[in-house]
Amino acid sequence: LAGGPLRGRRVVVTSGPTHEPIDPVRYIANRSSGAQGTSIARALAGLGAEVVFVTGPATVPPPAGVEVVRVETAREMLEAVQAALPADAAVFAAAVADWRVANAAGQKMKKDGTGLAPALEFAENPDILATVAGMSEGRPRLVVGFAAETHDVEAHARAKRDRKACDWIVANDVSPATGIMGGAENEVTLITAEGAETWPRLSKDEVAGRLAQRIAEALA
Ligand code: C5P
Repeated sequence: LAGGPLRGRRVVVTSGPTHEPIDPVRYIANRSSGAQGTSIARALAGLGAEVVFVTGPATVPPPAGVEVVRVETAREMLEAVQAALPADAAVFAAAVADWRVANAAGQKMKKDGTGLAPALEFAENPDILATVAGMSEGRPRLVVGFAAETHDVEAHARAKRDRKACDWIVANDVSPATGIMGGAENEVTLITAEGAETWPRLSKDEVAGRLAQRIAEALA
C-alpha cells in the first residue's frame, strides 16, 4: 500500500449527483449512482494517490482509503473542491445539476387551497470542471472531465474539451439502448490533445483501472 506510481500525488475526485433544494424537505436531483466516480477514486487510491473524494448524495458507498467530503448542492461541491486544492490532478465524475432553484423556500411549501401550483424559478449552477480547468494560478496539472452523450459522442466530447479547457474528456454513449446509465459496464472514448481512443466495453471498475493507470503515466 505504501508504494504505487501515484504515491505522493494528490487527486480530487467528484462523484454522485447533487441535490438542489426546493424547500427544507424537497429537492431536485438526478439518477447518478456515483458508481463510476467511486471506482475511479478506489483505483487511484490503489495506485498510492492521496484522494479527496467530494461526493453528492450517491447510492453507492464511498471507497475505503480516501478522504470523503460529503456535499449536497453544486455550490457546496465547488467550495469543497476549491478547499481540497492544490492537487496534482482532478477528475470530475459528478453529475452536477445544471440549475438550482432560485426561489427555494425557507419553510416547507404548503398547498394554499387555491388550486394553484407554485412556480419554480431556476438559476444556473457554477460549472466546477470549467472553473478549475480555467484557473490561472494553482490549476491541477491534469484536469479530467466526463461527457455523457446520446449521439455524435466524439464530436460533442471534443467540443466539450475545448469549451471547458480541460485536458481529457472521458466520453460515453448513454442512449438507453446501451444500458450504461445505472449499469455495471461502460464503453468510453478518451479524448486528449493527441486524439481519441475508444476502449472496449468494460466493467466500470476496469474503466477506472485503465483511467487511473493513464493518470499515473501522465503525472510521472
Ligand atoms: O456540460 P456537461 O454537464 O455535459 O459536462 C460534464 C462534465 O462537467 C462532467 O465532468 C461534470 O462532472 C462536469 N460538470 C461540473 N459542474 C457542472 C456541470 C458539469 O463539474 N455544473
